[in-house]
Amino acid sequence: MARKKENQESSVEMQENESEMIDAAEGAVDIEDLPFVGPATAEKLRGAGYYSIEAIAVASPQELSSVAEIGESTAAKIIAAARKLANVGGFETGDVVYERRKKVGKITTGSQALDNLLGGGIETQAITELFGEFGSGKTQICHQVAVNVQLPKDKGGLDGAVVVIDTEGTFRPERIIQMAEAKGLDPDRVLKNIYVAQAYNSNHQMLLVDNAKELANRLKKEGVNVRLLVVDSLTAHFRAEYVGRGTLADRQQKLNKHLHDLLRFGEIFNAAIVVTNQVMAKPDQFFGDPTKPVGGHIVAHTATFRVYLRKSKGELRVARLIDSPHLPESEAIFRVTEKGIEDK
Ligand code: GTP
Ligand code: MG
Repeated sequence: MARKKENQESSVEMQENESEMIDAAEGAVDIEDLPFVGPATAEKLRGAGYYSIEAIAVASPQELSSVAEIGESTAAKIIAAARKLANVGGFETGDVVYERRKKVGKITTGSQALDNLLGGGIETQAITELFGEFGSGKTQICHQVAVNVQLPKDKGGLDGAVVVIDTEGTFRPERIIQMAEAKGLDPDRVLKNIYVAQAYNSNHQMLLVDNAKELANRLKKEGVNVRLLVVDSLTAHFRAEYVGRGTLADRQQKLNKHLHDLLRFGEIFNAAIVVTNQVMAKPDQFFGDPTKPVGGHIVAHTATFRVYLRKSKGELRVARLIDSPHLPESEAIFRVTEKGIEDK
């Protein structure tokens, strides 16, 4: 009861103080922080799949009232508060967007050439898509960035923690240890800062973004900032589950929602989002352009940076930046070695 009252009061205060409202909207909130949502209601909401403020913000009062066993008018009030906090469908003034943009951070990939290609490293508040055929280095880059984001700022990191959504079971702690040691970091600490979840199917994969938000909120309260979210692979489950023309629209719609959830995570936590997407090099296994990544225009329009990777001789890999709005389309050569990602 006391907690509910406190929350109601704090939401009134937030209306009065715009900057506080923005801070709250930056993500330091669990669903319990909403007015009228006590532990029991929160449990019912979670049980029905409402893990985040955003999920509640876009629900209907009828839905919420039935799953949480509360009155519709109360449900409407909860939704209204969630909308305010999540800024769903709301407009922001340019200066607010500008303030957020000024906070964009960059994470080194380990290769100066690759960093230059990306305009200084992998950006926060953006989705970077790594696409290419098997063995082109997508997963290796994910591992490397998961280590590098933990470096101090003067070393190209963001002093941040990592969430990894692993859909293919290719996360290798052994590889993290190698890379951490090469950077002079304590491998134990590095591993402790990487939160890995296996996604069993595309629905589970989407749900894990909500779970990641909860986790990141909790960590934030403990003073730990998640500055990187990796989804490796973004598209494998979608590709496997949605086969045939009839299901394509459905797949694209889900992928679209997933990408927007990811982008939202990036904005709320000022985190970089790195996703991978496999393309097949064998033209006979594929219709049209063999280097066309799965997800087509949906991924293309939502990802801010699209990096096409291909194998070259031995350890060498070539990265090409594809249709970036503010960076020239060019190439960078890097190496995948035992130490990780390095310049050629
Ligand atoms: P898929 O997930 O199959 O689509 O491929 P991917 O693009 O994720 O490939 P990944 O990043 O896993 O790259 C695998 C390649 O990285 C291997 O074939 C090796 O060439 C290289 N690699 C991985 N670990 C090491 C290592 O410890 N030393 C060296 N020198 N190379 C490594
Ligand atoms: Mg891989």
